[in-house]
Order: sequence, then structure tokens, then C-alpha cells
Amino acid sequence: MKIINAKNYEELSKQAADIILTQIKINPFSVLGLATGSTPLGTYKELIKSYNEKLVYFKNIKTVNLDEYVGLSPDNPQSYRYFMNHNLFDFLDIKKENTFVPNGCTKNIESEAENYDNIIKNLGGIDLQLLGIGLDGHIGFNEPSNCFFKNTHTVNLTPSTIKANSRFFKNEEEVPKQAVTMGIGAIMQAKKVLLLANGKQKEDILNKALFGNITPKVPASILQLHNNVTVIFCE
Ligand code: F6R
Repeated sequence: MKIINAKNYEELSKQAADIILTQIKINPFSVLGLATGSTPLGTYKELIKSYNEKLVYFKNIKTVNLDEYVGLSPDNPQSYRYFMNHNLFDFLDIKKENTFVPNGCTKNIESEAENYDNIIKNLGGIDLQLLGIGLDGHIGFNEPSNCFFKNTHTVNLTPSTIKANSRFFKNEEEVPKQAVTMGIGAIMQAKKVLLLANGKQKEDILNKALFGNITPKVPASILQLHNNVTVIFCE
């Protein structure tokens, strides 16, 4: 595991974008696993900047996102599909049909989950998975639990996640209580993992994840068993 202590958020974002750009240079047909939330926003801005400077093209890139809220349609501004379109995809030459986000607004969420795993499998797996980390140690929306969930599945969000994510909503009541998330299996099968953690408030959980026991109570701790992880942290 490689751990980089960036001097600030700008540096973290630049270094993360560089790793993604290198991946695209090595393989312009890469499958990128992407995350939402505040942490990757700077990285996405850097990728857009590089695209505008004609340093990189995304026309052959495919993406799979980690998760989506249950019950939010793609045109809902709080949905993760909307987030991805408005913070990244709309500014690149990526083909929208090559960007995948779980559909949280389907009647049959079980078959959607199974379908999502098939999409990842049919793409040949993930070359580089970008991750943030929740204050409770979640990756994607794999919340602390008694076991690791291998496949894409529906989860009940923990009170800590609901509280943390309420900053994107009018109030806590509006935060969906469930999400559909990629499982630990697809994340661990990614060839490379890039975990970003921004801010002092993430330091404690990051330490537990990287140096504590490997336990589903701290889902990110499973990354200790992955053989190609880069972590970028800044206070
Ligand atoms: C988002 C996701 C989550 C976030 C995590 C950190 O797609 O999968 O695991 O990465 O909740 O969120 P921020 O970056 O907002 O602190």
C-alpha cells in the first residue's frame, strides 16, 4: 500500500487526477470505478481541465459508479447520476452510454443489483477504482456490518452517513434511508484502488482502516488485503 500525505486539498486532487490520467495513458480503453461526494470534486475538476487542454480523451473510457440512493431518479439533483453528469461527464467527450450508475429508481432493486454486477463483469472488471471513505469507514455504501457483502446490494444507511450526507439536502429527513451499492467483491477485484481522504475529521477512521483489524465493522479495512492501493490523505 502506498500512502501519500498531500499538503492540501488542491495537491490531493492534482495527485489523484495524475494517477487517473496515467491509467488512461496506459490504457485509453480503461474501465474506471468512480465515486461521488465532496472528496473527488477537485479531482474531477482537474480531469476536466486536462481534457480542455487536450491532454487526455475519454471517448473510449467506460465508468461504473459505486452507488446510488434508492428512490431518486436520475434527473433528481440529489441523485448520484445527476452528480456525475453535472460534475464530470457533461464536460468530457465520454459517451454517456458508457457511464454506468446503479438505477435506484426501479421497482425491482434486487434484479437491478444483479444486473449491475453483470455490467461490471461484462466490462471485464474495473481497472482503477476511485474511493472516498465515510466517517463510519464505509466504502461505496458498504456500511459497517457483521460481514462483508460481495455483490451489489441494497443497504440501510447508518445514522452517521445520513447525518453526514444531510449537508447535500434541505434537512436530515430528506436524505434517503437506503442505497444500492457495489459490493466489496467488485471493489477488491479492481486492478488498482485509489482511496482519497480529505480533512482532519477523516484521520481517525483512516487510521483504523489502514492499520487496525480487518473487520466488516470498518469496511474500508478490507483494502489492507488488496495488493495495489494508493491512499492520498490531507488534513
Ligand atoms: C460516494 C461514496 C461514499 C463517499 C463517502 C465519503 O459515491 O461511495 O463512500 O465516498 O461517503 O464522502 P465525502 O467525499 O463526501 O466525504
